[in-house]
Amino acid sequence: MEVLDVIKDRFSPYEFTDKQLTENDLQTLFEAAGKAASAFNEQPWRFIYALRQDEEEFKTLHECLVDGNQGWTKNVAALVITVMSKTYAKNGNENTVAMHDLGLAVGNLTLQASAMGIHLHQMAGIIPQNAIDKLNIPEGFQPLTAIALGYYEGDSDVKEKKPVEEIAFKGKWK
Ligand SMILES: Cc1cc2nc3c(=O)[nH]c(=O)nc-3n(C[C@H](O)[C@H](O)[C@H](O)COP(=O)(O)O)c2cc1C
Repeated sequence: MEVLDVIKDRFSPYEFTDKQLTENDLQTLFEAAGKAASAFNEQPWRFIYALRQDEEEFKTLHECLVDGNQGWTKNVAALVITVMSKTYAKNGNENTVAMHDLGLAVGNLTLQASAMGIHLHQMAGIIPQNAIDKLNIPEGFQPLTAIALGYYEGDSDVKEKKPVEEIAFKGKWK
């Protein structure tokens, strides 16, 4: 399958099957995430994850989501909290593109997951202070989003996206 076809088929479901994910699956996804480009190769991304079968860990991550996201994620196969370093390790200055770089890593993870037949659904709706306290996130790092992962069996729910001419301008803004 062409990469563009994998990208075009991606969508974020709200329902997942009961099928579990394995530790190996997650390691592959994080390997893909970690290959992303980043400013000064700082790799400011970090990921904290829990598989549903590891009940205590899963419950703790689940409690880091806002109510609206807790409802539909009770039985997802895995949860991930994404975290970024706010400063450059090399000089302590603010890393103004850390969020961008974390997004690149999540993009890689998303593409790898899609190629493996794994669906995911990202969430901005987290309770950052819960994540900091419950997941032992150190000073200088900021939890940003969560990701629900699992398998999906229903109909495709690919959303309409803006056409290329609306998002890419040749020469100057049009
Ligand atoms: C950074 C980010 C934050 C999101 N936050 C939430 C969220 O808190 N709750 C939710 O149900 N969906 C959330 N979504 C899912 C988006 O609503 C979804 O990706 C969007 O509607 C486009 O659908 P698609 O992913 O199927 O193309 C988020 C997606 C992203 C990328």
